[in-house]
Amino acid sequence: MAYVVTDNCIKCKYMDCVEVCPVDCFYEGENMLVIHPDECIDCGVCEPECPAGAIFPDTDPSATPEWQALNLKYASAWPNIIEKKEPPADARDWDGVPGKFDRYFSKAPGGE
Ligand code: SF4
Ligand code: F3S
Repeated sequence: MAYVVTDNCIKCKYMDCVEVCPVDCFYEGENMLVIHPDECIDCGVCEPECPAGAIFPDTDPSATPEWQALNLKYASAWPNIIEKKEPPADARDWDGVPGKFDRYFSKAPGGE
């Protein structure tokens, strides 16, 4: 079991989740984060902390097999993030916009 970051993280990227994860298993892309499923200890602490409601347990229908595969793939490609940074200035404008993955997902790694 693991928790999974899904569509509404894209372009919101609040990073509150990073602050509470006890095992630092978040990885940073240009405009979203993912969770490494082999490192997540399934504590559930991050789920209520996400202002965008983008994190779900892998037992939830919102954590589709596609999102689970994406979290695994990019957690292996993107850099680890252990501290919250400044969220995008327009994060609130993107909260709840449907179908962000198709139009805005970036494969680029995050970080400085
Ligand atoms: Fe980290 Fe716990 Fe969230 Fe897994 S469920 S990503 S271990 S805070
Ligand atoms: Fe994304 Fe929510 Fe974390 S928007 S960066 S999963 S706090």
